[in-house]
Amino acid sequence: MSEIWVELPPAPARRYPVHVEAGGLERLGELYTRHVAGARAAIVTDRTVEKLHARRALQALKARGVDAQVVPVPAGESSKSLEWADRLYTRLIWGRFDREAVIVALGGGVVIDLAGFVAATYLRGVRWVVVPTTLLAQVDASVGGKTGVNHRLGKNLIGAFHQPEFVLIDPETLRTLPERERWSGLVEAIKHGLIRDEALFERFERELEALARLEDVSALEAVIARSVAIKAEIVARDEREATGLRALLNLGHTVGHALEAATGYRALTHGEAVAWGLLAEAWIARARGRLSPEAFERVVRLLARVPKPSLPEDLANEELLEYIRRDKKARRGGLRLVLLEGIGRAELAEVEEVEILQALRFLRDHDAQAQDNRARRPRAEPEPPGGAEP
Ligand code: NAD
Ligand code: GLY
Repeated sequence: MSEIWVELPPAPARRYPVHVEAGGLERLGELYTRHVAGARAAIVTDRTVEKLHARRALQALKARGVDAQVVPVPAGESSKSLEWADRLYTRLIWGRFDREAVIVALGGGVVIDLAGFVAATYLRGVRWVVVPTTLLAQVDASVGGKTGVNHRLGKNLIGAFHQPEFVLIDPETLRTLPERERWSGLVEAIKHGLIRDEALFERFERELEALARLEDVSALEAVIARSVAIKAEIVARDEREATGLRALLNLGHTVGHALEAATGYRALTHGEAVAWGLLAEAWIARARGRLSPEAFERVVRLLARVPKPSLPEDLANEELLEYIRRDKKARRGGLRLVLLEGIGRAELAEVEEVEILQALRFLRDHDAQAQDNRARRPRAEPEPPGGAEP
């Protein structure tokens, strides 16, 4: 069990704990009573998570006398919309939820962004609690208070900063998560290692596949806690992304977001797109001489172990560049990217479009070579009938 405190200036006025504990969902009621004590709670979740985990959350709250009810939305990115925010406002108004009411976001990044946005805006802001159930949400979306919904012209364009009262992370909830989604979350944790912590990166070098398969829940718990601590430290120093420090969390995301958008958010999970983005952006750092060839090779070798679909053949450079030009870090027409200075160190830097084009060429060559290697790899001999010899 770990407890990490997010300390926002002026400390200690605004601080909240992130409680990481395998099996911790059972303690939701106890933590709620200790940190919030609102008599009424709306558990916002999606329909998939509702079936898997909402009953335990509801019981944990009710056992402490909280008048709680579950408010589900459909699973998937399309719920992160003003339309669904409006439906939630209607539920809360009809249910007579007042300013003392608390919203509990139980789910992945979609539920957290939507429920957090509703909490930030309903009655000009009510308290909220985060219980993330995807690895991506546990290492990233649950911490830092960024909330929001998508607009038809782009992702995450409408939103607010609104910090929760506490975050409860239970890695046991990840047992029901498909392995592809666990990989997606691991990429964000790898990113935290790359930005801030070489020891965390080394842990991934040793244990990556075992972590993805959830072979040892306490190992994953430790990785989540370390990842949260890195994000908490960055958010504490630059809550509103004013100094450029918080922007470091976007390592791999400039190219990653462009790949996601250009493939219609269907071909790649967020983590897979970010894995490709991390490779492209590491290549630029190496080409500039900021990242040593040895460190670059370590990044390439680790990310090669992350299963990810090949890049679609019809991806047009110009379309990708167009998305990259619209990136939130761009300033006065110039492109800005997070570049690695080493494993565990990163800086924001201006880059030229030609460097992005060269990095995209590297991605395609790297992908073609990986496909070639897979095709050449000898297929495993089929097992003899009756099983393998001892
Ligand atoms: P998601 O919330 O859509 O969850 C992925 C899928 O997993 C969904 O189908 C969901 O129903 C299912 N699921 C969730 N928990 C499960 C469980 N324990 N078992 C089985 N299935 C489960 O996606 P995500 O990857 O968690 O989050 C992506 C979203 O997060 C994006 O909208 C992104 O913009 C946002 N995000 C926000 C921040 C932030 O700081 N606010 C940071 C990163 C990402
Ligand atoms: N996920 C990036 C951030 O929270 O700033």
